[in-house]
Amino acid sequence: MDAFSDPQAVARYAEGPRRLVPGFTDLQRMVMLLLAERAPDDARVLVLGAGGGLEIKAFAEGRPTWSFDGVDPSAEMLNLAELTLGPHAARTRLHHGLIDIAPDGPFDAASCILTLHFVAREERLRTLAEVRRRLKPGAPFAVAHFSFPQRAGDRDLSLARYAAFAVASGVAPAQAENARSAIAARLPILAPEDDEQLLRDAGFSGVSLFYVGFAFRGWVAYA
Ligand SMILES: C[S@@+](CC[C@H](N)C(=O)[O-])C[C@H]1O[C@@H](n2cnc3c(N)ncnc32)[C@H](O)[C@@H]1O
Repeated sequence: MDAFSDPQAVARYAEGPRRLVPGFTDLQRMVMLLLAERAPDDARVLVLGAGGGLEIKAFAEGRPTWSFDGVDPSAEMLNLAELTLGPHAARTRLHHGLIDIAPDGPFDAASCILTLHFVAREERLRTLAEVRRRLKPGAPFAVAHFSFPQRAGDRDLSLARYAAFAVASGVAPAQAENARSAIAARLPILAPEDDEQLLRDAGFSGVSLFYVGFAFRGWVAYA
């Protein structure tokens, strides 16, 4: 059972990102503003990896006239999203599956927060191209996930800083260490230049870095 299929882990999820991701609340707000730069008032927004519902809730509160399609392969995380969204669920459609399950749109904007680091390189490229295909020309797409240089010393330093931030946020040191070693062993994390190249290979242009929080980076790009 992975972390997103365990009901107890799902219930604990909502508090996690704020303790683990430097500036998480502001990251969500920055993504909303980057999408709003080009999206109309009645924007239709695609959210990939929408389980948990945190970013749709933040976007919905900030932009009362946007509507959302959220995609996630974890039924438990989608259930949690439904709970998290409360009244905002009325302008959100949640889809259980990978990107292929998403409607064709075309969408005015898209986001993918804390998700692509779970997806191996080839599948990530395919996923990005499928997002791109669903966007109107010029529409913004914002992503943020683990991304750091892959030389051994740099990699160790990034993951050590990730763990130090978690401990400073109140996570037990042993738990932070377990997370650090599991992430190092299992996640297909790419170097920042590879992340940028994948966005370009998927057909996005104007790729630009807007966020760095120790081991995490975020980019905005345009279809
Ligand atoms: C750490 S959670 C992030 C959820 C939310 N975006 C947030 O910021 O709170 C990662 C989510 O990505 C989902 N996920 C994993 N692989 C995925 C894929 N290939 N496509 C879409 N979502 C995926 C997981 O099921 C999980 O709900």
